[in-house]
Amino acid sequence: MTHSIVLPRLIRTGSGALGQLPDLLTACGVKRPLIVTDATMVELGYLARLGQGLAQAGIKSGLFDATEPEPTETSVLVAEAILRAGLDGQAFDGLVALGGGSAIDTAKALAVLGPHGGRMRDYKVPRIVDEPGLPVIAIPTTAGTGSEATRVTVITDPDNDEKMLCMGLAFMPVAAILDPDLTLSLPPRVTADTGIDALTHAIEAYVSRKASRFSDQQALAAMRLIAPNLRRAFHDGEDRQAREALLIGACFGGIAFSNASVALVHGMSRPIGAFFHVPHGLSNAMLLPAVTTWSIPAAPTRYADCARAMGVVGDGVSDEIANTALLDELRALNAELGVPTPAGFGIQPERWQQLRPLMAEQALASGSPGNNPRIPTHDEIIALYDEVWG
Ligand SMILES: [Fe+2]
Repeated sequence: MTHSIVLPRLIRTGSGALGQLPDLLTACGVKRPLIVTDATMVELGYLARLGQGLAQAGIKSGLFDATEPEPTETSVLVAEAILRAGLDGQAFDGLVALGGGSAIDTAKALAVLGPHGGRMRDYKVPRIVDEPGLPVIAIPTTAGTGSEATRVTVITDPDNDEKMLCMGLAFMPVAAILDPDLTLSLPPRVTADTGIDALTHAIEAYVSRKASRFSDQQALAAMRLIAPNLRRAFHDGEDRQAREALLIGACFGGIAFSNASVALVHGMSRPIGAFFHVPHGLSNAMLLPAVTTWSIPAAPTRYADCARAMGVVGDGVSDEIANTALLDELRALNAELGVPTPAGFGIQPERWQQLRPLMAEQALASGSPGNNPRIPTHDEIIALYDEVWG
């Protein structure tokens, strides 16, 4: 069996790495970038800092600063118009995404829509978009999606609320800047949600049927970095060591799942996000303990390895004890990080009840449940939605 590994060409890490953007743009051959970001990055002054660096280097850029959280195609199309308009009569030749997964995912969508046109639904799985797109330089300001190192973007279809999974080489950023200074101001809730998302990427990539020795190492490294540091960063946002570990861990998690796929948690999570506007990491967290419990019998050793990598048990313990400890840890983590159930989040019970079959259908259609060690039927997914409800 062979595995195809795809990575960004350049990654700059460390405190202050944002300052190296002009250098990185030159290295990637980008002369006129469109910056894709959101209002929070403007408020925090990060955009100004980035713009200053570009101005000093004499690089002219355009700006789209209205990225939505969990972006819909509607907002992507507004950005596409700015991209198409160009700058001083010349076309933009690259994208710089500054923000969380939403900004990076929006830039990736633009990277394909710009040169190839059409609508996002034309590019959703099972289609694989390997045609070259515009180069994307990703600067994550959350330690979560790992989108800076994945060949994946997720855009919501406004017509039916489907979170469309789009995959292919065109969506892989050419470069990334991992500057932990940009994550210091993340509030605890966002730190928790994005951190659990990153942890879920690592666990799902490790237990995925598409896992390889390459992705295993990235996944284990991600778990080792994320698990001991998530609580620290949640309780003390200024903990620089924890912030840096989370940012690198999230990137490893992204590399792992981009090359091994995610599984059932993500398959079931996307419809919850799309229909009920639950932040992505939070809906993963709602599902992770129950889906892990349900999946362990099909891959007990793999899940036990996760417990060992996360440091919740020592290397010498049996798989059985490690699996029990893993489930205890996932439940304890949710409790400590204040993760609600769907009911606790305020979702209307009738609407949840009514939408479960459609959510199960969309989960299966995304292909992610097919990578799970235990592959569910439509009815089993509905039963899991019931289980996590209250
Ligand atoms: Fe995710």
